[in-house]
Amino acid sequence: MRAMQSRPSVARTYNYVLDGRDNYGPDKELGDAFMSDLPGSEALAITNRSAMIRAAKALADAGVHQVIDMGCGLPAEPNVHQVIRERDPQARIVYVDNDPFVVAHGRALLAIDDSIVVIEADVREPEKIFENPAVQRLINFDEPVGILFSVVLSFVADEEGPAGIVRFWTEKIPPRSVVYISHFRPGVSREAAATERKIQEAFGGRFRDDKGILDCFGDLKLLDDGLTPCRQWHPEPGSPSVEEKPLTSWEELVVAAIAEKG
Ligand SMILES: C[S@@+](CC[C@H](N)C(=O)[O-])C[C@H]1O[C@@H](n2cnc3c(N)ncnc32)[C@H](O)[C@@H]1O
Repeated sequence: MRAMQSRPSVARTYNYVLDGRDNYGPDKELGDAFMSDLPGSEALAITNRSAMIRAAKALADAGVHQVIDMGCGLPAEPNVHQVIRERDPQARIVYVDNDPFVVAHGRALLAIDDSIVVIEADVREPEKIFENPAVQRLINFDEPVGILFSVVLSFVADEEGPAGIVRFWTEKIPPRSVVYISHFRPGVSREAAATERKIQEAFGGRFRDDKGILDCFGDLKLLDDGLTPCRQWHPEPGSPSVEEKPLTSWEELVVAAIAEKG
């Protein structure tokens, strides 16, 4: 565990920026460096997390009550199962992360009954995830499935085939299933470039342009407005429009879309 704590991790730094408590000195140092050198950059984490929660609500409202959350991150209320369970108390959720620290915390806080599991697995090995006994037990691939990739393909290199990973799942899921992807994209301002550099130096994150992100959806049918900055993605009623409150250069850097299998 000590080795794990000596370097910042993406999950713990993200947790720190989101005001969570599951982080250590190096994560705090890096999170503080982001927020002091690039004030406002925390919007990337905040707008991404809140869009993902709205995506979980949208899935449940569309009648999708079994979800795989890829690269789920550390628990941060509300969690995906909480918003989905408000709509269907029997909903089944598989949380997946490759960080053992995330998995340990997730098992303690998220896996509250037999219909929620947290598995340690790498999103780049979709066959292993698919064959995992917990996935086979909980997910019925004859009924619509929701798959969330909330800022996790941003940590998959081009040569590791992010679109192929999504295609693996779209070939397994039946019609009316939905895939949500949020992703970092490059910005034009100097601060945006500095943020991108810092994330890449710390975690090797990949920023993709809109075409690169849209390519990940393959043949799926994009819903709503397609790829949209997370702050504007399915905004809560009453939240300020971009005309009332323009996007900051950081809010431009994280975008999301949801798509359906026809
Ligand atoms: C920025 S956090 C996003 C957490 C959560 N999905 C959210 O949007 O709030 C990225 C998460 O992806 C996980 N991750 C990164 N690469 C991964 C991989 N190859 N397989 C599984 N999880 C991965 C990290 O451990 C981290 O928890």
